[in-house]
Amino acid sequence: MLGKLRAFFKKPLPVRESWTREPARMGTMVEFLNWFDATTSVGATVAKAESDWRARITAFEGYDKLARRRSLEIGFGGGRLVAQAAGDFEEATGADIHEAFDRTREFLASQGVKNARLFHRDELGALADGSCDFIYSFIVFQHFDTLEEVDFYLHHCARLLSKDGFCHIFFGRGDSGIRVVDARDFTKRACSLFIEPALFRERASRLGLKVIGHEDSMRRDVTRPDGSGNVSVQARVLMARGGGPPQVL
Ligand SMILES: C[S@@+](CC[C@H](N)C(=O)[O-])C[C@H]1O[C@@H](n2cnc3c(N)ncnc32)[C@H](O)[C@@H]1O
Repeated sequence: MLGKLRAFFKKPLPVRESWTREPARMGTMVEFLNWFDATTSVGATVAKAESDWRARITAFEGYDKLARRRSLEIGFGGGRLVAQAAGDFEEATGADIHEAFDRTREFLASQGVKNARLFHRDELGALADGSCDFIYSFIVFQHFDTLEEVDFYLHHCARLLSKDGFCHIFFGRGDSGIRVVDARDFTKRACSLFIEPALFRERASRLGLKVIGHEDSMRRDVTRPDGSGNVSVQARVLMARGGGPPQVL
């Protein structure tokens, strides 16, 4: 009863607005990077990025044979994974909604990255159909606040993937259907969207992507064995371009 009363009077925290506005309020570069993925130093961010890139994002059969023209990250945050992609691709691009792209550019420059291009989500149309060899998204889809946002990106993935390209999306795993956290219960940086993996795959197929692999229950720490304390909130799906034309939204 008390909990319900508290929730009733609590000021709602708009999910999307917190991702849009907060990064520009961070002071140092470490605080900025820490907003997107917990860290204590730039060096720790780079080390964690190397490990996530190698052991999770590119850890699938076929990555080594991919064409290396362009990658696209959905939700690049501080740029730690764009910096990794920049080492593998001629051009590493990314799309996000936050208001501190200049800080991300500053981080990328500090890492010697010269082949990155950042877009606002609303500018994704600037990338030509079939022009991305690898599209990936890590710890991002679980921070959306609508299923429409999932469909928006799946639709762009189907449009942008090159003929032999791959799309690797990690998302918040739900038990049944879709669950969006109410703005009244939302705390900054927490997950806000959970999708049943089968439903995610079904939507991807409907929007023109071919699902070629998935993992519904992942280890949180890839270096530790399976166990109840080592289960990630994320699931993942690996996709390629589908046969038919993408469905118009
Ligand atoms: C936890 S951070 C992860 C950043 C990055 N992927 C990484 O692993 O370091 C989540 C990111 O998702 C972005 N984001 C949230 N909603 C988004 C949306 N609708 N479209 C694109 N990016 C979004 C946030 O701005 C933030 O950069």
